Amino acid sequence: MKLKRMFLATAAALGLATSAQAVELEVTHWWTSGGEAAAVAEFAKAFNENTDHTWVDGAIAGGGGTARPIMISRIIGGDPMGATQFNHGRQTEELIEAGLMLDLTDVAEAEGWADIVNPSSLLASCTVDGKVYCVPVNIHSWQWLWLSNQAFADAGLGVPSNWDEYVAAMPALQEAGKIPLALGGQAWQANGAFSVMAVALAGEENWLKVNSGKDASVAAGPAYTKVFEAAAAAREFSKDTNVIDWNLATAKVINGEAGGQIMGDWAQGEFAVAGKVAGEDYTCLPGLGVTEVISTGGDAFYFPKNDDPEIEAAQKELASLMMSKAVQVAFNLKKGSLPVRGDVDLAAANDCMKKGLEILAEGNILISGDQVLSADTTGQIDDLMTEFWSTDLSAADAQARYADIIASAD
Ligand code: GAL
Repeated sequence: MKLKRMFLATAAALGLATSAQAVELEVTHWWTSGGEAAAVAEFAKAFNENTDHTWVDGAIAGGGGTARPIMISRIIGGDPMGATQFNHGRQTEELIEAGLMLDLTDVAEAEGWADIVNPSSLLASCTVDGKVYCVPVNIHSWQWLWLSNQAFADAGLGVPSNWDEYVAAMPALQEAGKIPLALGGQAWQANGAFSVMAVALAGEENWLKVNSGKDASVAAGPAYTKVFEAAAAAREFSKDTNVIDWNLATAKVINGEAGGQIMGDWAQGEFAVAGKVAGEDYTCLPGLGVTEVISTGGDAFYFPKNDDPEIEAAQKELASLMMSKAVQVAFNLKKGSLPVRGDVDLAAANDCMKKGLEILAEGNILISGDQVLSADTTGQIDDLMTEFWSTDLSAADAQARYADIIASAD
């Protein structure tokens, strides 16, 4: 009820038509794993309970790589949904330029988002020409290695505390019948694993020079040679994973079939649904245990223009709700991500989330690839990384092709 009163106040401040008709708002997203579904259900519950409207769930299976083209073609094709997930950053640039997305600046200003969103790069990624077009809902960091304590115990090994120890343990894990490094078969997972290795092994500065500065000489240089060689060695230990979806690879870590997985902190949602306890059943190493850093990408909701004042009012109510303290806490605890506002109480966070919060508080943060690379460049790197991780393409050839992509990246 408290939330509802708050929305009525926001709506009144914005002159929205709250007494108007209840709207069925279709919300598309690619959150279909156990942990993801539990998290998005928190949004739906809050929307249904605190407004007069109804959340119509538009989950699209197959991950972001499958979902985004569908979302984009619906918006361009004149069949817009009420709200949709994207990774905040550059994925929606063209849709915003084409005038297809609702401007949320009035909501953002009325609620002082500029003062509460932390880090400010999250709101900056939603802002084009001074106007706010999305509501960032979480900080999701890619920079994690998830290890199965069980798998290491079965192989008679201690749980590693960094990447080098993990690499040293891979042959013994394999001998014990484990998949040393679980890697699902989609392009974004191959790209993500490589990028996390690049941050840890080439260092943050070099990663930034390549991804933000588009410096092809660094991409072709010795720091990245080290990363390509390490990835070529690691792929030999990932070949038996044989699953496509990321959460099925995580499941192998959860049940002790695999030693570990490089994956974003959304993996925590899966461990939570399986009832696993951080520190006891699994171990999380931020920055591969080499450099403790949180990349501050994540998810944001955009509201395609529907040219209907009643839908627009419902869209803005949802935007406001997603930023509210209570919803930020409920959603992020289930999602395994960190809230976008620093003024909420995350007492119920597990050990890994607490580690993430500490790293964030220390300011060890890194912008995410989604925020600095265009969707086109990301697509080219995705293709190269799929080939690299799933064939015998040499480290040297892959690096040369990578440097070419960076040379023409935007
Ligand atoms: C990412 C998204 C996360 C996550 C993951 C796997 O793009 O930011 O929220 O769930 O995909 O589906």
